Amino acid sequence: MGTEKTWSGLSLTDIYRGKGPWSFSISSVEPSRYHYVLYELPANLQHPPKPHQSSQPFLWDNDHVRMPFSEENLYPLKENGTDVIKLRWTVIQEALSLPINSVNQFEAALNKYNMSLPKFQLLHYFFTEVLQEDESQHFFKTILPRIIKLALRLPELIPCGIPLLAQNRNRSLSLSQLQISCLLANAFLCTFPYKKSVASRYPGVNFISLYSSFERVARKQCICEKIKCILNYFDRITQQEPTGVVTFERKMIPWSNMPKWNTLEDKLGDTRVHISSTGTIEDASGFLQVDFANKNIGGGVLRYGCVQEEIRFIICPELIVSRLFIEQLNGVEAVKIIGVERYSSYTGYGDTFRFSGNFEDSTPHDLFGRRRTSICVIDATKFNKPRDQFQGAMILREVNKAYVGFSCREKENVAPIATGNWGCGAFNGSKQLKTLIQLIACTAAKRDLVYYSFDDEDITKDFYEIYLFLANNQVTIKQLWSILGQFTRSSLNEEKLYPFIKQAYFDSKKQPTISKYFTKE
Ligand code: AR6
Repeated sequence: MGTEKTWSGLSLTDIYRGKGPWSFSISSVEPSRYHYVLYELPANLQHPPKPHQSSQPFLWDNDHVRMPFSEENLYPLKENGTDVIKLRWTVIQEALSLPINSVNQFEAALNKYNMSLPKFQLLHYFFTEVLQEDESQHFFKTILPRIIKLALRLPELIPCGIPLLAQNRNRSLSLSQLQISCLLANAFLCTFPYKKSVASRYPGVNFISLYSSFERVARKQCICEKIKCILNYFDRITQQEPTGVVTFERKMIPWSNMPKWNTLEDKLGDTRVHISSTGTIEDASGFLQVDFANKNIGGGVLRYGCVQEEIRFIICPELIVSRLFIEQLNGVEAVKIIGVERYSSYTGYGDTFRFSGNFEDSTPHDLFGRRRTSICVIDATKFNKPRDQFQGAMILREVNKAYVGFSCREKENVAPIATGNWGCGAFNGSKQLKTLIQLIACTAAKRDLVYYSFDDEDITKDFYEIYLFLANNQVTIKQLWSILGQFTRSSLNEEKLYPFIKQAYFDSKKQPTISKYFTKE
């Protein structure tokens, strides 16, 4: 039997400091001008918290999500041959009150309140080729009517509107899981209005891009599996209303306040590490789990995308709602999301991704009613030419980005970062470089590092070896920064970075050189 050790560094028990996953510090939910709370405190988990009421609702302006039920949401249409303008919410209510027993009727209903939707090619394929007849029946007879009922509660559940979390501002937003489910029901039914100027900066939440995808067979199958995850979510939450809450926090650090990396004396060995070739980030309980994000949060979750970020969003669909109010991230911004629940299990990855059944999330809640799951959304840069990532400006961008995501106000008992090959899949980054960038950011943020190499045994071994080298020699951030600068000026291949670091360190100590590492490719 294989009992081979698949990890290096400290054991997880040591990383948890013997106290288990749930002892790390948490941030609070306190309404303020920086933290919008859309429900009445406190959340007690017995019932969904009541929606917050306000005498001045913000349903239709540039600082808030444009709500489908706003009186300013008007829709032109023809009635008995005459042009009329109606409240779009009335049109939505009318369209969704008619019987919908087939995918054709579903498509027709959504077209009654949306102009020029693309054809629902993928959804037709899903209902005709993928679902069994009884599963289809269950959807149209049971799940869909419940989704519609939930969606139409929007004016009751979110009466005062939703502030946008726009660029360059540190702001948080807390919503109840029930409010999120209602927003997602509306996204499922594509009721959110489309405004071109805003839409280009916000990723958008209407599910139309899922329904209308037209892809090769393997991708089509994978999108269908994503829809199964979504239906499982709605099946669950429409049978039993969720009672918890979720916080979305937009974080930014201005360039002028970023650490001066070439001056930091912190020793990289002060960061304790656990590096494993098995395990996945979403299973790393209690840690701050990194989302390998796109600057448009959620990336291709509502299209064919099916790698780390999209899979995370589809098994925890409450994450998807962030696309409604989180503006595209700029270079010095990150997002932290606390409290989402996981609903689905899965197997495979990319084209082989499959929904593999319901998932019961047993993560405990914090004092404020959030699941103790925290996610750090940071988008790496996509590199078409591998050598570009070694330019000084690029290394700086990536380390700053990781630092915004990892840094926090709490000083004591801060959760370790659970990460892995950030930026090294779809975005083509170098694992040798990204491990070091994340180690630097963890050290500056004073957090331990748990690294899941996703079956890459070489990087598990090599990263630990270079970590030990840096720790044993008490190398500081400043020293490593300088060596990375030297590597930038060399024209060595990315695979030579770790050996180069050792050599450059020895050189700086005037020790004998290991000349083979300086051979150019
Ligand atoms: N746990 C740990 N490691 C993982 C996991 C997991 N669950 N899943 C994948 N990996 P990628 P990127 C490893 O390509 O390069 C999305 O479309 C695996 O080795 O998702 O930053 C976003 O929306 C994989 O190759 O991240 C962005 O547009 C590596 O992590 C874009 O992809 C990188 O995963 C981001 O691309």
